[in-house]
Amino acid sequence: TLLDALEAAPDAVAATGAFRLPVQLVLRPNAEFRGFAGTLASGTLAVDDEVVVAASGARSRVARILGPDGEQLRAEAGEALVVTLADEVDIARGDLLVPPQARPDFADQFTARLVWMAGEPCRAGRQYALRIGTRWVNASVTQIKHRLNVENLDHLAARELALNEIGLVDIATTAPVAFDRYADNRVTGAFILVDRLSNATVAAGMVEHPLRRATNVHVESALLDRTARAAQKGQVPQCVWFTGLSGSGKSSVAKALEQALHQAGRHTMLLDGDNLRHGLNRNLGFTETDRIENNRRAGEVAKLMTEAGLIVICAFISPFRADREMVRALFAPGEFVEVFMDTPLDECIRRDAKGLYAKALAGQIPNFTGVSSPYEPPEQPEVRLAFQPGTTDALARQVRQVAEALAR
Ligand code: ADX
Repeated sequence: TLLDALEAAPDAVAATGAFRLPVQLVLRPNAEFRGFAGTLASGTLAVDDEVVVAASGARSRVARILGPDGEQLRAEAGEALVVTLADEVDIARGDLLVPPQARPDFADQFTARLVWMAGEPCRAGRQYALRIGTRWVNASVTQIKHRLNVENLDHLAARELALNEIGLVDIATTAPVAFDRYADNRVTGAFILVDRLSNATVAAGMVEHPLRRATNVHVESALLDRTARAAQKGQVPQCVWFTGLSGSGKSSVAKALEQALHQAGRHTMLLDGDNLRHGLNRNLGFTETDRIENNRRAGEVAKLMTEAGLIVICAFISPFRADREMVRALFAPGEFVEVFMDTPLDECIRRDAKGLYAKALAGQIPNFTGVSSPYEPPEQPEVRLAFQPGTTDALARQVRQVAEALAR
């Protein structure tokens, strides 16, 4: 059949291209032996070949190649093997070994073709785990450039990619990764996106090309670092992030917490959804995509403020677990304190301080959290505040105790 013929056709690219060895495992049975295990993705590899670690640029030569039947002098694409190198170079699982004359791209932004495979649509801004070769890194779609009409291959404008849709997107990873264009290498140019909470594969991707801005923008290292700035203030910077329904009491407890810290001589800053939405985030509404971006910006600003040495208190509904996890991932362990204002919806509706629930229930506000848009409660927040009327200061004290214990 045609399918049999296609499957049996030799992969010319893999056979003739430059070698690529994604390191799957570092083998260290004893102090003398250090081997790097993986499947040769393309090309051929021979003893004495020069190799470079794509990410670090460290160089060495192949000392030995070990296959299933013991020592061998060369290996071809598709073979599983262990190599040892002539020098001690720092190599970890996820690294890519390549020849010095044909190095892959190494960047944190690229354009890719994406096939979306999840029921939940692809939305710009949401963070996923990306696996390329043997490397895992966090990544998000920064822009959906177009969606493909599969009937006639037309490019259609798109804000989302739904199940089984194919589109061209820009991807940003949280650290640079080594990759090839899919046209040059089907292994090191292909990747998947995985939902970090459910572990489901949500997309398969093919790299088109790196983005020039990824290589032309360098992180400027400052003379002063966060430790120095925080030390001058005599405090440990933190981000205390309140999440909960509108009217659950986030802002009240956040304000009480800030006041208590301020009186104790701490340097603080309060970021509140209602306030940021009048300035930095005034171009955002309440669709899922806009909330993702609202929370992402707030998280990035909070991170900058902790780098300035501040204790930042944030109060955002932040209804989606994935986006709170994305913010958490910006911080070191102990630095991010998630506080869940666990006030039941009935109680928020009863209070309705801003009169918004009445309007939402009457169908006058679309996408209203708890009414016509979901709220995903945290599973393991650092602090859970059960609703008790008139105890704002006591709740703030509770948060402060946990935050200070984590900062130690
Ligand atoms: S978030 O979901 O993107 O984190 P954020 O905390 O910034 O929301 O803003 C929530 C505030 O916006 C609410 O307290 C409420 O005053 C107001 N608001 C206006 N429309 C909505 C809506 N559709 N859903 C929720 N809050 C809304």
